[in-house]
Amino acid sequence: MENIIKDIDIISAQEAQACDYKTTEDENTGKSKKLYIESYGCQMNFSDSEIVASIMKDNGFDTTSDFEQADVIFLNTCSIREKAETTVRKRLSQFNAIKKHKPEMTIGVLGCMAERLKEKLLEEEQIVDVVVGPDAYRDLPNLVATAEEGNKGVNTFLSREETYADISPVRLNSNGVSAFISIMRGCDNMCSFCVVPFTRGRERSRDPHSIVKEAQELFDKGFKEVTLLGQNVDSYKWSPEENNKARLNKKDDASEIVNFANLLEMVALIDPKLRVRFSTSHPKDITDEVLYTMKKYDNICKYIHLPVQSGNSRVLELMNRTYDREWYIERVSKIREILGEECGISSDMIAGFCTETEEEHQDTLSIMDIVRYDFSYMFYYSERPGTLAAKKFKDDIPLDIKKRRLNEIIDKQNKLSDERNKMDIGKIQEILIEGESKRSTEQLKGRNTANKVVIIDKGNFQKGDYVTVRITDCTPATLFGEVVS
Ligand code: SAH
Ligand code: SF4
Ligand code: F3S
Repeated sequence: MENIIKDIDIISAQEAQACDYKTTEDENTGKSKKLYIESYGCQMNFSDSEIVASIMKDNGFDTTSDFEQADVIFLNTCSIREKAETTVRKRLSQFNAIKKHKPEMTIGVLGCMAERLKEKLLEEEQIVDVVVGPDAYRDLPNLVATAEEGNKGVNTFLSREETYADISPVRLNSNGVSAFISIMRGCDNMCSFCVVPFTRGRERSRDPHSIVKEAQELFDKGFKEVTLLGQNVDSYKWSPEENNKARLNKKDDASEIVNFANLLEMVALIDPKLRVRFSTSHPKDITDEVLYTMKKYDNICKYIHLPVQSGNSRVLELMNRTYDREWYIERVSKIREILGEECGISSDMIAGFCTETEEEHQDTLSIMDIVRYDFSYMFYYSERPGTLAAKKFKDDIPLDIKKRRLNEIIDKQNKLSDERNKMDIGKIQEILIEGESKRSTEQLKGRNTANKVVIIDKGNFQKGDYVTVRITDCTPATLFGEVVS
């Protein structure tokens, strides 16, 4: 962990993972053309790349891990902080060299940066042929075909209905054990610092039957864990009427309203050996019903990502988070009351938001002590054009102060992670094996219910196995266990 603190650009172990891009793998089913996708940003964006791969597969493309072999390169981009966009621009300039040798290659920018910048991207980055926003991926084959004829194309139409419910994603970078399922798109929350409502559009929930079907198919293929994804899963709500589905008769309508707790239950009931996770929970919306549903089913993992952003009520109000410090602490007490100490809780924190004072920053540190997060994703504030905060407030905290406050938050989190992990020593836990550990082929890596990585000796186990272990040791980032027969 120490080396991470030194490098302020890499904010935490988790952030390092989040910054990493993912690429497509080699798949050769004899299709005539090759597609390479590089994906940045959040899990939802990675999940979208699986939809994109599926759409392109149906239109004559196999995926490749080697961009030099590709006929089409897509960068599925993120706009959440300025750094995310600079990374993509640097990458585009690297691709410039390749395109010089291979001018017939099509280069597309997808995702949040495409949505934010629209046509401007074509002007600013000459190398780009197509710009396609998150709700327009069905149009990709058409836009690529047009680009192949020499015409650049843009589609950044944001939809109120699109959920890609009927598209069966091609699993990319899969360990064959855990998979992500998007259950909703967009966000209606308008947190003042956040670009997502502008890049992802209005919130809409996906038909629960298509979600259960996708989870069932994954289980049938041998997957053991699904993570249900949305920017704010607690506001998941689906009714045939709301979603304009005329296929059901009137009698079914009333009983068919599905909230997030109902959806969790529907997925948990597929099989006790299918673990269910979800992310992200919004503190203003997480209900007791969801907590009781988690308690009722052993296979719903006891882990909640509950981003606080700040521990100070005035700052939370400026952020337009619509809860205050007391509300947040009450929700955490409820989690502890219903699910106990074992439930993992993680957070996102933003240091140095507009006008944040030293005392208000101290409130973030103190709420961390109260909640005792298992881990956190920690950032300093990065002003995003067009957001409410950019329009209304001055980004007035100097960078060195933002970084110092962030460092204090990281230090605090490292201590808390260490403490929380030490509490696990001696405990008996069930882990799901995900594959070999990074360090040694003689060891396996699994995850406990609270989403912590546990390393064990290989023995005769393999990925996909559930193994009961006793925790013997830990670092702030990892637990070590021995098998209990
Ligand atoms: N929907 C999730 C968050 C999605 S964005 C939620 O509401 O919690 C992931 C995280 O990025 C946010 O939780 C926030 O901590 C961080 N983030 C978003 N905009 C940011 C900005 N402008 N500067 C710094 N961090 C930001
Ligand atoms: Fe952004 Fe807030 Fe929506 Fe999360 S809930 S995506 S932080 S606007
Ligand atoms: Fe980034 Fe868009 Fe996700 S801005 S964090 S890729 S929703």
